[in-house]
Amino acid sequence: MNIENIMSRLKGQLKEERYLHSVNVMNVSAELARRYNADENKARLAGILHDCAKGMKGEEAVNFVKSIGYCPDEIELIQTGLLHGIIGAHFARTEYGVEDREVLDAIRWHTTGRAGMSVLEKIIYVADYIEPLRNFEGIEMMRQAAFEDLDRCVVLCAESTIRYVLNKGFLLHGKTVETRNYSLRLLKL
Ligand SMILES: [Fe+2]
Ligand SMILES: [Fe+2]
Repeated sequence: MNIENIMSRLKGQLKEERYLHSVNVMNVSAELARRYNADENKARLAGILHDCAKGMKGEEAVNFVKSIGYCPDEIELIQTGLLHGIIGAHFARTEYGVEDREVLDAIRWHTTGRAGMSVLEKIIYVADYIEPLRNFEGIEMMRQAAFEDLDRCVVLCAESTIRYVLNKGFLLHGKTVETRNYSLRLLKL
């Protein structure tokens, strides 16, 4: 399926706001790919599809991931919204015909990040945060950092997530902490 077909299909499936967010993430991902010499087409593909499973949560999401052989951890069982990366990567492959491992991993890990992310994974993780519809305190600094130093921006995104999760009283996923610590250590090397 080419990107135009994917876009028209997603447009019919996602809420309008989520679709516009996805298009923005696609465009920002492409810009970041040019900046960091990553594959622009892969960035566009992962960007447009990253939230394709955002609609599934709760028990439905838990049952779905179990049905595809994934065992949710104790945090994901409660914060079921975290599962949309895993389900999204599955849909990208089975519903949208994406076979590229790098693209699938970028979708898979965009929610929490992980230690040792590829450049493409970092691009999607960051673009999800800084796309033009996002508006929160500190966003301008993050937008600037994204094009100056990708790892510094990953640290800022992870720290922003951690602050948000603490403020909301949600459970904090260990992978978000790993993402932050790993990227921070890269800055200090
Ligand atoms: Fe997402
Ligand atoms: Fe997103």
